[in-house]
Amino acid sequence: MDASILIIDDQKDQAEAIAESLGNAGYTCSTTTSGNNVVDMIRRDGIDVVITDLVMHEFDGMRILKETKENSPETEVIIITGHGSVENAVTAMQKGAATYLLKPININHLRAVVGKVVEKQNIVRSNIELHKQLEEKFGFAGIIGNSQQMHRIFSILKQIASTTATVLVVGESGTGKELIARAIHYNGPRKNNPFVELNSAAISESLLESELFGHEKGAFTGALQLRKGKFEYANNGSLFLDEVGDMPLTTQAKLLRLIEDGRIVRIGSNESIKIDVRIIAATNKDLGELVKEGKFREDLYFRFNVICLRLPPLRERQEDIFLLMDSFIKEFSKKNGKNIKDISPEARKILFRYDWPGNVRELRNCIESMIVFNQNGVLDIDDIPEHIYKSNRTALTGPVFPVGVTLDEMEKELIKNTLAYVGGNRGETAKILGIGERTLYRKLEKYGLK
Ligand SMILES: Nc1ncnc2c1ncn2[C@@H]1O[C@H](COP(=O)(O)OP(=O)(O)OP(=O)(O)O)[C@@H](O)[C@H]1O
Ligand SMILES: [Mg+2]
Repeated sequence: MDASILIIDDQKDQAEAIAESLGNAGYTCSTTTSGNNVVDMIRRDGIDVVITDLVMHEFDGMRILKETKENSPETEVIIITGHGSVENAVTAMQKGAATYLLKPININHLRAVVGKVVEKQNIVRSNIELHKQLEEKFGFAGIIGNSQQMHRIFSILKQIASTTATVLVVGESGTGKELIARAIHYNGPRKNNPFVELNSAAISESLLESELFGHEKGAFTGALQLRKGKFEYANNGSLFLDEVGDMPLTTQAKLLRLIEDGRIVRIGSNESIKIDVRIIAATNKDLGELVKEGKFREDLYFRFNVICLRLPPLRERQEDIFLLMDSFIKEFSKKNGKNIKDISPEARKILFRYDWPGNVRELRNCIESMIVFNQNGVLDIDDIPEHIYKSNRTALTGPVFPVGVTLDEMEKELIKNTLAYVGGNRGETAKILGIGERTLYRKLEKYGLK
């Protein structure tokens, strides 16, 4: 097993004997007879395990334990102790030592104990790593965007994630509603509890309530067994109610009651069960409009609308297109085992100009398909799906300014588009426009584009 071990004993030969036997077992070992520079050694050498004698003449094993844990909590400490001081060893374990070894030390026992400590340490580390990956995937870090609109979303997310308030996420299809819902859950205090989802549009009206609230055995024909509903599964966690605009009015009434008194009643039961669930709802419909049409309860709408996150369509935050594109290129090159180095400026331009009715999902799918079909490592115009390519041919000739537009208006528009195109880089913008950076700067000021 691969681990680096520091052995501390004021008796040099003792320390070296242990180092030798652990060295033979494949560990990287170092020794010291002084308690002074232990913390530095741990930091410098990335020590995984410290083995220290408890009672030494000049310094104290307990102090080494304390300093190690304070400065490098991940480093495990094994205490060596004589028969007379087992009680101290127990105290040491309460203070964070992994375990203790009794003198005289038996080599096989020593190796077994160290093996176990290292193994456990590896498991803990890989758990932490897994958790980090989960958080990267569902945390704010996985949400890409540098536009003003997205910064606004991030700032709201930060404020609401730590609460348990009901949130409504609205936006066109593919704008990232589910991604945001997961981020709210995985960045809040409920992240270690379940995130359960239910799509109202995907389930028939008759099944929806049983899915949400569960049912008792025999509650209706076909209810052969007791079944818990999604609310019960989501207890102490979050329930993501997707396409909530498609929820029938009767179910909405029950949902409202549930939100108000925090209890559910399984279908066919008389008893209510207390539950604690954070509701995150999403829809691509205009709930306000549905209320007017009598298809959505106004009181439930008001409940939801307390915190409403409105995700902007991609065409309204064009400056995010390049960021997303580059991230998807990386992701799908890796997934498909391809080495895609870049995307040609012409292809970039076409993708930038396209209006992305399917939003981020459409862009993501587009990049994936381009990567799958690409042969030479640089994504180019021929890789672009035909419908996107065709819809952009005219746009490529540039914006058309009708008579009546002033030169200033035209200039402002062109500068704005160019800036967005290069992701806000002023040097690049000046180059493309064929002017100096200082001239650009003056114009930005003039048009209020800074
Ligand atoms: N800001 C973003 N950064 C990175 N990936 C994103 C972003 N927004 C959306 N995506 C990705 O785009 C795809 C669609 O997102 P998601 O499923 O969350 O959209 P949606 O709004 O729920 O769509 P629908 O209304 O169709 O259900 C997913 O693969 C998601 O990971
Ligand atoms: Mg969705």
